[in-house]
Amino acid sequence: MPFNINHLSPVLFGPNMAMRTGMRLRDLGCTNVLFVYDQGIKKAGIPDKVIDNVRALGIKVSVYEGVQADPPDYTIEEGAEIGRKAKVDGIVGIGGGSSMDTAKAINILMGNPSPINRYMGMGAVLKPGKVLILLPTTSGTGAEVTTMAVLTDTTDNNKKKGPSGNTVRATLAIVDPVLTLGMPPPITADTGMDAFCHAAEAVTSGQANAMSDVLGERAISLVCKYLPRAVKDGSDLEARTHMSFAAMSAGYAFNDAITHLGHAIGHTLGSMFHIPHGNACALAMPEIMEFIAESTPDGIRRVGMAMGLGTDDSVSPKDAGKKVADAIRALNKEIGQKTLKQHNIDEASLPTVASRAVSEGPAMFSPKRVDSNDLLKILQKAYAA
Ligand SMILES: [Fe+2]
Repeated sequence: MPFNINHLSPVLFGPNMAMRTGMRLRDLGCTNVLFVYDQGIKKAGIPDKVIDNVRALGIKVSVYEGVQADPPDYTIEEGAEIGRKAKVDGIVGIGGGSSMDTAKAINILMGNPSPINRYMGMGAVLKPGKVLILLPTTSGTGAEVTTMAVLTDTTDNNKKKGPSGNTVRATLAIVDPVLTLGMPPPITADTGMDAFCHAAEAVTSGQANAMSDVLGERAISLVCKYLPRAVKDGSDLEARTHMSFAAMSAGYAFNDAITHLGHAIGHTLGSMFHIPHGNACALAMPEIMEFIAESTPDGIRRVGMAMGLGTDDSVSPKDAGKKVADAIRALNKEIGQKTLKQHNIDEASLPTVASRAVSEGPAMFSPKRVDSNDLLKILQKAYAA
């Protein structure tokens, strides 16, 4: 079966590679760049080190420090305004998914006229922006290698939308696990489960392909092995390095295979209750895997094999789904992922969650057709678990 492989972002990977940002910018011909990050990363002192490294090579630096979670469209305009005034020839995004998505979107406006809202969704014709370097400081989103940005469209009911396509991706991702060392345990767990969901959903997606399987399976096994270690001891550089690689591989995996029900539910819980993204995607993942198991026999077996559960062809898809569900429940518990009840969500709100989630974009990539009743049952089971 034919498929697309669009994930061509070059990557410089490894501890301390962030200290090559200046050199790489210089090699790419940049003399004047805009750094994009949020206040949390600023307080952690992460951008300063990289900015110093860049300035040491004589490259001019402007900064946009106003990145917000679920980046609203107007923040993109604010950042782009600074970039245009300074006439920058490169953008550097440092941080989690929001910072990297903001940097991607600002870069679009370096090559295309405002407002950013004109370019939401697939298929918008975009001219290339400037050089774009992305440095993740979490291990989850995979945004450093994907060809999309997720933004909040304040002109359309605060819907999550975003530009996508090959002109959106980074010129270079610099994935330096050292930048993730300071991440507190709950954020390590939440973002790590985001990576897990990207991979498990990609492998079982209706649009899975041979390449996304390879990348997704590897990401799943690395998350299962190293996420508990990274949560327990944030300074474990080996665990952090494997998690950085897992998040990146999962990003490559879902870029073309796309996610499905975990993210449909996750986006809805995130916008209704402000639950951290990875936790919101993962908390019903056991029930989702059981629900889809028989519609994707190969997919569910692959997920189980990658988790080390021995779900080869001798195991029925239904049993494989059960094994995978039990193992994800155990993983969620081990790393302290909160349940729906622990988030104080009223069971009476679940029908609203289900009816909103079914209309979220990723739901259409579920390997099993789904309606809001199915999602309600999934949510109720997750609630009771
Ligand atoms: Fe995600």
